[in-house]
Amino acid sequence: MGLPGVELFDDTDFRLVRPVSIGAEATIYEVTLRGTPLIAKVRVPKPYRNAVIDRDVRERRTLNEVRTMSKAHDIGIVVPHIVHVDLPNSIIFMEYVRGTELREVLYKSPETHLKFAGDLGRYLGEMHEHGLYHGDPTPANLIVRDGELCIIDFGLSGYSDDVEEHAADVNLVERSVYSSYPVMARDFIELFWRGYREVRGSFSEAEVKKRVAEIRRRARYVMR
Ligand SMILES: Nc1ncnc2c1ncn2[C@@H]1O[C@H](COP(=O)(O)OP(=O)(O)O)[C@@H](O)[C@H]1O
Ligand SMILES: [Mg+2]
Repeated sequence: MGLPGVELFDDTDFRLVRPVSIGAEATIYEVTLRGTPLIAKVRVPKPYRNAVIDRDVRERRTLNEVRTMSKAHDIGIVVPHIVHVDLPNSIIFMEYVRGTELREVLYKSPETHLKFAGDLGRYLGEMHEHGLYHGDPTPANLIVRDGELCIIDFGLSGYSDDVEEHAADVNLVERSVYSSYPVMARDFIELFWRGYREVRGSFSEAEVKKRVAEIRRRARYVMR
């Protein structure tokens, strides 16, 4: 079929249903395990990397994603349940979250969904408060299911209490919301910060806000 990594499901209990997304680093498949639909996130080999290093890199990233996802789950954040990890092949089998990407929800009915801004602020607040950052908290990595926000894609996440990593998360939220939904962006961001403050308090909020502004100044400087 020419799809990266499909042969990995041969001779396993997993049955391929369809490809869901082909990204730069990972290919996402819908599979079933004894009739239960699941998502398989496959980090496929990169032919331009040395084979040994490549395998090592993919394994480490897979392990990192699994660890940070379970940490997020432990602190009360809704993430897909992990069902099985095939480390040698760098595959994470997880719950299929049946919902709509926040990206789509915001386009279709912006007014009714500002509530998710506060939810996202509280989620990131909890993560940062526990020394965890997401790394890519854009509306494409958020799924709304039954009115509840679920965070996916911990591929760039990590552990840090450094305000720089926390501010980088928030900067990504602000940038993606301003560029994709300019009309509602101000309200969204205000509600986001309100949720964030609820969890972390105004001292941390001010500290992170200051650093976000600094990151933006640095970015402008580089552009010039
Ligand atoms: N557990 C899941 N449930 C439902 N859809 C998912 C799940 N994981 C990934 N997806 C879908 O696949 C897309 C890409 O997955 P993601 O983990 O974000 O990989 P990438 O690193 O390529 O961005 C997501 O934007 C989402 O639409
Ligand atoms: Mg993603």
